[in-house]
Amino acid sequence: MRVAVVGTGVIGASWAALFLAHGHDVIATDPSPGAEEALRTAVAAHWPALERAGLRSGASQDRLSFTAAAGEAVRGAEFVQENGPERTEVKDALFALLDEAAPPRTVLASSSSGITPTRIQQACGRHPERVLVGHPFNPPHLIPLVEVVPGGATDEASVRAVMEVYSSLGRRPVRVRRELPGHLANRLQAALWREAYSLVASGAASVADLDAVIAHGPGLRWALLGPFVNQHLSGGPGGIAHILEHLGPPTEDIWDDLGDPRLTPELIRTIVTGVDDELHGIDPAELVAERDELLQLLITAKAATSTLRGSTP
Ligand SMILES: NC(=O)c1ccc[n+]([C@@H]2O[C@H](COP(=O)([O-])OP(=O)(O)OC[C@H]3O[C@@H](n4cnc5c(N)ncnc54)[C@H](O)[C@@H]3O)[C@@H](O)[C@H]2O)c1
Repeated sequence: MRVAVVGTGVIGASWAALFLAHGHDVIATDPSPGAEEALRTAVAAHWPALERAGLRSGASQDRLSFTAAAGEAVRGAEFVQENGPERTEVKDALFALLDEAAPPRTVLASSSSGITPTRIQQACGRHPERVLVGHPFNPPHLIPLVEVVPGGATDEASVRAVMEVYSSLGRRPVRVRRELPGHLANRLQAALWREAYSLVASGAASVADLDAVIAHGPGLRWALLGPFVNQHLSGGPGGIAHILEHLGPPTEDIWDDLGDPRLTPELIRTIVTGVDDELHGIDPAELVAERDELLQLLITAKAATSTLRGSTP
């Protein structure tokens, strides 16, 4: 397949590497000076991880081409993944151009974390029905989740096509049923961050304590199963129905007690200092490398199981 990757910063470069590793031709575009060199460097850096995951036949970094002109990049594309800056006026101008230049049936998927597909479609006068959000989780070449969000004008054929493309890349697409700020995963993260910041603000725990609580506690199970099935498995033979019967009321009491912090300059200072203290003496590059290596081992091990791998739609 001929894929256009529009915008080649952090997310675009990772998508480009993933498409290449699956044997696709990628034509990338980004107007910033030095973008091509930065992209080729990033793809080369991602390649060893993709090799460990297993390259598809025909996969090659040589199948990456580059043009600074977005219209030229999408002209013959069969799929477009857009990763430009997260600013409405930039997305508007970019999508007007992509909609004009791409073949009429080519799906235009935006990685946008926060701009709704219906908003993006307003810029597309020609074929808004093939426009949607395909929101990855950083880094897209490692993390399988992609949230697929159709807009008001998106047709079912485009949703089906994009779900198939992401599944064929070994991703785990989840269709979001309603347009919401933050889609699903970032809302869930925001809920956790809200309480974590509140606990720090009230002095109930340090930044390092809360990081330990998640990283050495529930986070381990959350990497394997979602919140509901984890809860179900905690309920013994009675499952989640039993849990909700006896732990439901105390859970509601906790909900009533949860914090609603504001990011005041003082709280921001406390959080930043807390993270600095926690990471004192640790090389951030080594931390990222170890995290990504373990992440990949986990994803591979998980995919090899019969029950934890999850099903693809
Ligand atoms: N960073 C994340 O964790 C993350 C996660 C998921 C989704 N996203 C989304 O992905 C998109 C890109 O985010 P990022 O973090 O890679 O940003 P980034 O700043 O790293 O990259 C944006 C790139 O777009 C380029 N650009 C600017 N104008 C352009 C234009 N007219 N046409 C094409 N490219 C243009 C810039 O030169 C830059 O290379 C955003 O919509 C963001 O919401 C980001």
